[in-house]
Amino acid sequence: MARDSSEFPVVMVRPDLEGLPQYDLPAGFSLRAYRPGDEAEWLRIHELADRYNTFTASTFAEQFGTDAEVLRQRQLYLCDPAGATIGTVTAWFDDEFHGGRWGRVHWVAVVPAFQGRGLGRLLMSAVCNRLRQLGHRRAYLTSNTVRVRAIGLYLKFGFVPEIRNQRDARAWQLLRQRLPDSALAKMDLAWR
Ligand SMILES: CC(C)(COP(=O)(O)OP(=O)(O)OC[C@H]1O[C@@H](n2cnc3c(N)ncnc32)[C@H](O)[C@@H]1OP(=O)(O)O)[C@@H](O)C(=O)NCCC(=O)NCCS
Repeated sequence: MARDSSEFPVVMVRPDLEGLPQYDLPAGFSLRAYRPGDEAEWLRIHELADRYNTFTASTFAEQFGTDAEVLRQRQLYLCDPAGATIGTVTAWFDDEFHGGRWGRVHWVAVVPAFQGRGLGRLLMSAVCNRLRQLGHRRAYLTSNTVRVRAIGLYLKFGFVPEIRNQRDARAWQLLRQRLPDSALAKMDLAWR
């Protein structure tokens, strides 16, 4: 897929997992853990939701491996009242982020027909809670300057921009122009 010329990677961190915003599931919706065979569901959700990445049959295994027990603990699926899977997120980990073990919010997506209804923030709440349950005390994520909605959501959850070099500073400069005021207020707070 063609890349936007103003597309830069960004990293955000949450140095602790205290005081997480909590959101309840809307009536009829449910959250469940990964079960074998969900690879196809994960792919379907991402193909529908994500217009910036290209997915293949091997993307899932490349990102998460093939250990079903690890996936059961860490990967969540959101189902609509009819039982169809409409979103997913993974409470992943990285043993070598900044030289240590960090939780990682990985691959969040809600299918377009259900976006903008508060389900993304519900998934963020669920994934951060799951990271805590799994013993993580800090988390990070990676994203991109074109994913303005996702970054607004992450700021709301207390993830702060990691600015380590000129390129990071330029990326966040760009995001300042793209984010709504409500998200900018969170960002200014994070920078103080
Ligand atoms: C990111 C994504 C999961 C959000 O899901 P969603 O269900 O639409 O999110 P919500 O309805 O819960 O909205 C959450 C927050 O997004 C932010 N948001 C919404 N619209 C926004 C916009 N136009 N600009 C910036 N931020 C916005 C706000 O913080 C909003 O919360 P608020 O309405 O209370 O202010 C969804 O858009 C998606 O699947 N995108 C494609 C995949 C993707 O980009 N994933 C992230 C990879 S890093």
